[in-house]
Amino acid sequence: MRPIQAPYPQTRHRRTRATPALRDLTQENRLSVKDLIWPVFVREGEGVEEPIASMPGVNRLSVDRVVKAAREAADLGIPAICVFPYTGMEARTEDCALAWSADNISNRAIRAIKAAVPEIAVMTDIALDPYNINGHDGFVVDGKILNDETVEALVKMALAQAEAGADILGPSDMMDGRIGAMRSALEAAGHQGVTILSYSAKYASAFYGPFRDAVGAAAALAGGDKKTYQMNPGNSDEALRLIERDLREGADMVMVKPGMPYLDICRRVKDNFGVPTYAYQVSGEYAMIRGASDNGWIDGEKAMLESLLAFKRAGCDGVLTYFAPQVARLLAD
Ligand code: PBG
Repeated sequence: MRPIQAPYPQTRHRRTRATPALRDLTQENRLSVKDLIWPVFVREGEGVEEPIASMPGVNRLSVDRVVKAAREAADLGIPAICVFPYTGMEARTEDCALAWSADNISNRAIRAIKAAVPEIAVMTDIALDPYNINGHDGFVVDGKILNDETVEALVKMALAQAEAGADILGPSDMMDGRIGAMRSALEAAGHQGVTILSYSAKYASAFYGPFRDAVGAAAALAGGDKKTYQMNPGNSDEALRLIERDLREGADMVMVKPGMPYLDICRRVKDNFGVPTYAYQVSGEYAMIRGASDNGWIDGEKAMLESLLAFKRAGCDGVLTYFAPQVARLLAD
């Protein structure tokens, strides 16, 4: 008898890659339109679609146009839209009072979307930066960001957004204790059903640059940074402590931000906690892919799909991405 010595490689991994059918059958992770949250920028006016130079293909929209965008998103099957307000220098004050006004542009947009497109979930951003004279997410006194005073303001902001009809509140400020404070206030005000998707692990990142142009915060921030409240990009264990804390305080879902440079964090969060986990593919990531694509240096559609699939592979349940409608259309074909 011949020895059982295979005259071929012991394993041929290429077998399951040989045809589209076999590749489909053996694919472990998939991107679906149901994974998408679409961030949009809203501004004053009517019939306005104002381009953002550092984010080609993304516009600041007036409320009527945001409603139209929400309708399109819902028709494409996108489950959620996230509203960010653009505010000029004239809307910014030291006390940030516009942040919790029922009639600020963000709350008007939330109400208008919920009235016209009730089936789409509306997510918000909670932080003072669109309303703050200095572009910071919290109150600044003598060059220091005040934590507890800021949390009080953020709670008022959360209540105003819940009142406007928001389904998902997104605290992006990175102050300590904000989730617990918001959760208690929401319960007390009868908003038990409003969910919180906490920006739990938000890094002090250079990839937010185009966003700060988009919301008008870049000039106000004037080259300053957010390192005393956003995370150090060198840290990973700390992200787990923040996630654990936010869950304990009442967060329903958690986020890692930015996305692509922090996929290792996404994976650790999912493995450790098994909770609904999201990544934010931020403005700078969008700009990189879009910019390279516009220059003909990469295939933009393929790069976009690959980058988003990577979030699923890293353990995310979903992703906030400016590509959402474009991806939804591609996935539908
Ligand atoms: C503000 C906020 C930022 C982003 C979302 N909410 C910017 C910042 O922290 O300066 C960034 C999103 C993006 O870059 O796409 N609290």
